[in-house]
Amino acid sequence: MKNRILVIEDDEIMRITIEDSLKANGYEVRSYEKGSDGVSTFKEDEYSLVITDVRLPDMTGLDVMKMIKAHDEKIPVIIMTAFGTIKDAVEAMKLGAIDYITKPFSLDEFNLIVERALEVRTLRDDNIRLRRDLSDLYSYPNIIGESEEIKKVFELIEKISQTDSTVLIYGESGTGKELVASTIHYQSNRKNRPLIKVNCAAFPENLVESELFGYEKGAFTGAAQRKPGRFERADNGTIFLDEIGDLPSNVQIKLLRVLQDGSFERLGGTDALNVDVRIITATNKKLEEYVKRGEFREDLYYRLNVIPLYMPALRERRDDIPLLIDHFMDTYNCRFGKKIRLESEAIMDLMNYDYPGNVRELENIIERCVALSSDSSTFQENIPPHILKKNKDKPEDTSLSNVAADAEKEHILKVLKSTKGNRTKAAEILGISRKTLWEKVKNYDLAQ
Ligand SMILES: Nc1ncnc2c1ncn2[C@@H]1O[C@H](COP(=O)(O)OP(=O)(O)OP(=O)(O)O)[C@@H](O)[C@H]1O
Ligand SMILES: [Mg+2]
Repeated sequence: MKNRILVIEDDEIMRITIEDSLKANGYEVRSYEKGSDGVSTFKEDEYSLVITDVRLPDMTGLDVMKMIKAHDEKIPVIIMTAFGTIKDAVEAMKLGAIDYITKPFSLDEFNLIVERALEVRTLRDDNIRLRRDLSDLYSYPNIIGESEEIKKVFELIEKISQTDSTVLIYGESGTGKELVASTIHYQSNRKNRPLIKVNCAAFPENLVESELFGYEKGAFTGAAQRKPGRFERADNGTIFLDEIGDLPSNVQIKLLRVLQDGSFERLGGTDALNVDVRIITATNKKLEEYVKRGEFREDLYYRLNVIPLYMPALRERRDDIPLLIDHFMDTYNCRFGKKIRLESEAIMDLMNYDYPGNVRELENIIERCVALSSDSSTFQENIPPHILKKNKDKPEDTSLSNVAADAEKEHILKVLKSTKGNRTKAAEILGISRKTLWEKVKNYDLAQ
């Protein structure tokens, strides 16, 4: 595509000279005398570059640039300044001009600057495209994180999505195991086939088998109709068996057979059925220990553990906490129609906590705080006290806010003692409301 250049210059001789020179170099050119005319055509058509004089009859070239950049912030702008007005040039560069040229100038000089500006633009475009390609490769929109630990997870997802291998996802509760299982399915070529999720711990033991493998009519009292199981429904797709450690032992044998040759029988049936199902399992327990204790078949364990995928705990990838905070703030602000912004103290509180419940715990805290807060200043009050308390237990925390909090705590305790626990009196002495005192007592764990 030919580069189209917009020129805004009030001096007619200058304007025609520039226009001719640019056209001679193969560019398409539109030129205007007034800033306002230039800005309005810019909005209607695509341009690769804008060149504007700094002094125009109706506005300054800097104003032109601001208006144009408000419309398209990436458009390169060259400002032409008069001899002796280097201040204008500096100002223009500060405001985002790609270059400037001082009048009078030779056409060679001018053409060089134009060429360079267009080159920089192409480079920038390429850069953006390159970055986008890379992030496509190693990031998944639903899984937030940039830490080294989570990147390892991304790489593994990338590799295993294209295979049919059985994956065992392990990691603490709330680390995103189910999220990763879904991601693997939707990245794989089974993505248009079903993803069936079964939580093995959520069914009574005697129902797991019929749920997974289905039953024939009359297989047991109450089996009035034949019912296909989840494995049949997952045919050609993926089955996600969550909390696999809780699979009853009679079902473990059946699962082992599916893994060996893809076949099983419905409960009460004799015909072997064949399915093509990819199996992904997850556990937050140490499956090896189940094996040692004889509660989980060792042969099944090895079949399931073809590709182990470890989901790191949130405290092992603290770098991701700020990103996750942002993500969940957006999610819940949007859901509750609010515009709560976090103040720095609240961010510090959220960043210093250890999150035994991992991402789910962080998500729940933010959901709760956004739901309860009427505006940004009340967010912090709604952070659960045990989180604040944990922070203050850290001996190395000598930040001003922490030292101040300690002093506050001491003082409240002293006053409460002097009033023999009478909070109304204590609040009066402290010069705060009863509600504030109550909150502080709760946050500092001072209730006696
Ligand atoms: N990296 C992440 N980015 C965004 N959201 C996440 C991330 N990890 C987890 N979540 C969210 O946290 C919650 C818990 O995740 P998930 O259910 O996948 O955890 P889990 O490991 O399966 O937990 P459990 O062992 O308790 O079943 C979900 O709402 C999930 O969307
Ligand atoms: Mg889960």
